[in-house]
Amino acid sequence: MLGEGILSAPIGGRNTTVKATALRLTGPRPSVTSRGQSGTMLRAMDKKPSKPAGQKNTSSGASQMWGGRFAAGPAAIMQQINASIDVDKRLYKEDIQGSLAHAAMLVKQGILTQADGDAIADGLQRVRKEIDQGKFEFQVALEDIHMNVESRLKELIGDAAGRLHTARSRNDQVATDFRLWVRGAIDDMSVALQDLIHALLDRAEEHAATVMPGYTHLQPAQPVTFGHHLMAYVEMLGRDLGRLADCRKRLNECPLGAAALAGTPFPIDRHATAKALGFDRPTANSMDCVSSRDFALEYLAALSILGVHLSRLAEEIVIWMSDGFRFIGLSDAYTTGSSIMPQKRNPDAAELVRGKVGQVVGALTQLLIIVKGLPLSYGKDLQDDKAPTFAASDAMALSVAAMAGMVRDMTVNAERMRKATDGGFLTATDLADWLVRTLNMPFRHAHHVTGELVRLAESKGCRLQDLALADMQRVEPRIDDGLFSVLGVDQSVASRTSYGGTAPDNVRRAIKDARERFK
Ligand code: ARG
Repeated sequence: MLGEGILSAPIGGRNTTVKATALRLTGPRPSVTSRGQSGTMLRAMDKKPSKPAGQKNTSSGASQMWGGRFAAGPAAIMQQINASIDVDKRLYKEDIQGSLAHAAMLVKQGILTQADGDAIADGLQRVRKEIDQGKFEFQVALEDIHMNVESRLKELIGDAAGRLHTARSRNDQVATDFRLWVRGAIDDMSVALQDLIHALLDRAEEHAATVMPGYTHLQPAQPVTFGHHLMAYVEMLGRDLGRLADCRKRLNECPLGAAALAGTPFPIDRHATAKALGFDRPTANSMDCVSSRDFALEYLAALSILGVHLSRLAEEIVIWMSDGFRFIGLSDAYTTGSSIMPQKRNPDAAELVRGKVGQVVGALTQLLIIVKGLPLSYGKDLQDDKAPTFAASDAMALSVAAMAGMVRDMTVNAERMRKATDGGFLTATDLADWLVRTLNMPFRHAHHVTGELVRLAESKGCRLQDLALADMQRVEPRIDDGLFSVLGVDQSVASRTSYGGTAPDNVRRAIKDARERFK
């Protein structure tokens, strides 16, 4: 029975002749950038369990929203597998924002009366306030955020609420909500990433000339500066920002009005709703946009790559903080103790950042597989697109913030870094280059001679620059005093002036350029 039936009010065709009037929304218009619970802060409502199944149903037990052709309600297990409200209530701001734009357009097109449009807009804003304030009772029986909002709207404004769903379906509605949410998440993530980049730039500037061993295979290779090393991450994160921006560009088309899958006979204006919601244009194919989630896949792919970059930096922090290195320290703010070993100070935040990427790559895999076997168009499988996306988004928001905190917190032990450059014959390449430049030796030959000198220094337990000239000349008689000028680590880094090299002046220039790029 549709006694309570929110869909029982006549919708449709005969109203299309109502004269179009400009919609005046009562109350503040939602900002197009507002989104659900972004970032990592969950509102109080997330902690409140939703009402159990069975409430708000028609007397037959069938759904008041779509149960007209059903004689009985769903099995408890059906309700359990079908309901998504515990996850998608996070879309409430986007859902209401989309509904406001849709209703305004319906009025403008003469599909809804001004009075109904005003009542709907007013009611939606009241619903939003209730949810904002944690006063809204989410109901599992109403399945998802769309029907929870609409049902409450009906309670607040009566039959006009039933006209809101004219010329749309939950399929285009959820596709729109989710795009808005991901777009907002990209914007938030971009701000957070910029902050991390600035933290790195500041530390890089401080240490533009701080020498340390540069590694390949985690074996000492050539001297670099700590600033140069940090700037490598600025480049990686800069590309991450670029990937997010690319994804945003492709994502920014509006599915609203595609309806279930085929479009609608109502004279809607999809360009108007797209514009009102800050989209560049409506999506071009109704079947595509209700069933595609590649915007979320791209977002998760970008987050996965970002996560891998953060994980590498986290790993370096763990290594640099380890006893063998002691290149950096982290304060009480970013370390933890052990419950059994009183002396311990552990880089847990870095380890957690290193680990979190697993969740993000998992989310990407999960959604890829949800989409992979899906025939056109919408399938309920797609409902499970949100949980992994939200979780991955939260994990990365937390990781980026924690990483920025650690980068700002770390104390850099420049002395230890310099001391570490004493080992590993880091300037062996400089020596070989000198042989090439000064003695016009072919590089392969110079490489061999240098190898012999390294062996000699190793057997004497000294650095290359501590070898006696006479000992060097026994290996290559043409070597003279001039060679010693290239064997120090400061000379070595200062000589690496090729574009993108580690010379402190280069590093300072790179930082300046990056400050321009990431303003
Ligand atoms: N909760 C659904 C989802 O997230 C909304 C769309 C439902 N559409 C449908 N045809 N049952 O995908």
